[in-house]
Amino acid sequence: MKIDKVSKWKGLLWILFFVQLLIAGDCRGKIDAPAGGKPNAQPTANPNGGVRVNATAKQVVLDNGIVQVTLQVPEGYVTAIRYGGLENILDITNRVSDRGYIFLFMYFIIRVFFFKLYWDIASATTGDNDGSDEIRLAGTSFKIIKQTEDQAEISFLCPKTSSLPLQIDYRYILLRGRSGFYSYAIFGRDKGMAPMDVDQIRTVYKLHTEKFRYMAVSDKLQREMPMMRDRETGQPLAYKEAVHLTNPTNPKIKGQVDDKYQYACEDKDNKLHGWVCTDPSVGIWVITPSDEFRMGGPHKQDLTSHVGPNMLSMFHSTHYTGTELVMKFANGEPWKKVFGPYLVHLNSGKGDPRALWQEAKNQLQEELKSWPYEFPVSEDFPKANQRGSVVGKLLVKDGSKPPVPANLGWVGLAQPGEAGSWQREMKGYQFWVQTDGEGKFTIPNVHVGKYNLYAWAPGFIGDYKSTSVIDIAPGKQINLGDQVYTPPRSGETLWEIGFPDRSAAEFFVPDPSPDLANPVLNDQENKYRQYGLWDRYSEIYPKEDLTYTIGVSNHTKDWFYAQVLRKTGDTYQPTVWQVVFPLKDVVPNGNYTLQIALAAANQAELQVRVNNPDSKVLFSTLLIGKDNAIARHGIHGLYRLYSVGIPGNLLKSGQNTIFFRQSRNNEKFRGVMYDYVRLEGPASPK
Ligand SMILES: *[C@@H]1O[C@H](CO)[C@@H](O)[C@H](O)[C@H]1NC(C)=O
Ligand SMILES: *[C@@H]1O[C@H](CO)[C@@H](O)[C@H](O)[C@H]1NC(C)=O
Repeated sequence: MKIDKVSKWKGLLWILFFVQLLIAGDCRGKIDAPAGGKPNAQPTANPNGGVRVNATAKQVVLDNGIVQVTLQVPEGYVTAIRYGGLENILDITNRVSDRGYIFLFMYFIIRVFFFKLYWDIASATTGDNDGSDEIRLAGTSFKIIKQTEDQAEISFLCPKTSSLPLQIDYRYILLRGRSGFYSYAIFGRDKGMAPMDVDQIRTVYKLHTEKFRYMAVSDKLQREMPMMRDRETGQPLAYKEAVHLTNPTNPKIKGQVDDKYQYACEDKDNKLHGWVCTDPSVGIWVITPSDEFRMGGPHKQDLTSHVGPNMLSMFHSTHYTGTELVMKFANGEPWKKVFGPYLVHLNSGKGDPRALWQEAKNQLQEELKSWPYEFPVSEDFPKANQRGSVVGKLLVKDGSKPPVPANLGWVGLAQPGEAGSWQREMKGYQFWVQTDGEGKFTIPNVHVGKYNLYAWAPGFIGDYKSTSVIDIAPGKQINLGDQVYTPPRSGETLWEIGFPDRSAAEFFVPDPSPDLANPVLNDQENKYRQYGLWDRYSEIYPKEDLTYTIGVSNHTKDWFYAQVLRKTGDTYQPTVWQVVFPLKDVVPNGNYTLQIALAAANQAELQVRVNNPDSKVLFSTLLIGKDNAIARHGIHGLYRLYSVGIPGNLLKSGQNTIFFRQSRNNEKFRGVMYDYVRLEGPASPK
């Protein structure tokens, strides 16, 4: 009896102790709380695993017992995310020497991270800028949209102002049992609104700087990252984003280059990236199951995560495309678009960052299966039964050959326009899939509306566009049957350089200077992401520009991945590349065709001359491109195709030379990347 009484008292003391711990824990979570904001003294976790919303005048806390998210009211900044698991409790307790905490609260609040979130819209002034005129969105009203045991959804409204003719409603969703939270944003403009240009829209999560040191953006691209202070003590290189780490905290990474653009990827692949903390073993990830809301099609490239530690969800940008993708709104132009939803996923493990990456990949598969989500409350986000689909088969009929099925071709629905216009389209939604080996495709979950079907296929030049506009209706599948693409071709192939796939990856990509490398990019597949490759051109071709001899040269070794400028002292000179080729039996009055497919262009002008480098220009692209893909280690930017007629009387039987001159040189990153070049014989008489 006596013993029982004592243990009862002990129990009560323990409970008081835990309550006190909880309160202390909550105060730690309020690091970013506004001045005067009351700490949330109530434990919000619901013991039965349901979702709780605890809102005060200054903040709102979403909690499902797994993760707790604190947002500032009415601005909607995420000020704290708490998350943990059993292993985390042990780690924490070891550090704070707090045993009681361990045993009783192992499924409750056990870990505190500090996050800062902001949305920014940078207006377009210089094109590919990074946030001059940055506007941080701050809501002016807060509303609980839905509050049940299974789901909480909250909204922050950002009404239009004189400087921001947009209204934004951004949402956060917490589901029961989900280790993470969802977010999406509804951007809109009414008829009366002033004109505006939007350059970038993105969400930024800034993570705990000491804790999150390991970053993963793909199976291969993951590493222990430099710290922000390593960048600050380093040497900025040719532009501010690239920094030579001359004095890093970790001496092992001394001499490496850090640049966030090395971790960019195509939007079609921008589905999962994030950071890992090893003590305790916790990962945080941005999972984006669909890029229907992004712009410029599946090959548009964008940022992922980078040193800060920062984690982005890019909604709109001009990265790797340039000003052509600035969203321009005319006076009074109405618009509405839902960005997201994406998931901020949290996981924990046993210390191996790759295991957390793997688990996050599994979660991505789960998200893909449940796309389109049924749970977002806004009617602006259409649910599965409000969407339609198309099926069909893509074939390519190249020249006189019979049609062949497109093998892994890309097929998409985007706003009606010209063939290829999807690359520069950014106000609507786009829906892209890859065909199978037989050219068959299904495009599911398409928003209701009018589209063209667009396509391209590896191995063939140019862009396909359906002849008719496709009208997507809810719950209906449209069978488009055979879609036959006839790529540009005027005659038989006389020679070709490269493989038509809109990328320069198959050409020669040099090794980086050893003192400017990032070791994670050393493999053949990622080498093009290394810093400073543009300057290697002048080292490899110190005296004369590249000459490529048909039948002798090999494009994997002898065609530099970009036609950059030649560095001579401190100046950059135009370069002239030559393609030397034999011809037999020239048809003097025939019309030969040079197909030039460019993978990228940055303030460049490509001029073509035949057999005389000093002759009048036969063809010029004139000034094109601002995609900055050379400086930003993209292996492509926007795709461009030119069909250049060469009158037979410029050619001769025997050896011929075509001169490709990139003539613009007043800035070091001017140049082009080729995708593919082909000379065709004269058009066969009809
Ligand atoms: C070109 O070089 C690559 C890589 O060295 C090689 O695999 C390929 O067979 C070569 N092509 C020709 C036509 O010699
Ligand atoms: C020659 O071919 C090019 C490209 O196919 C075409 O644009 C041009 O009109 C042709 N010129 C003549 C004279 O047929």
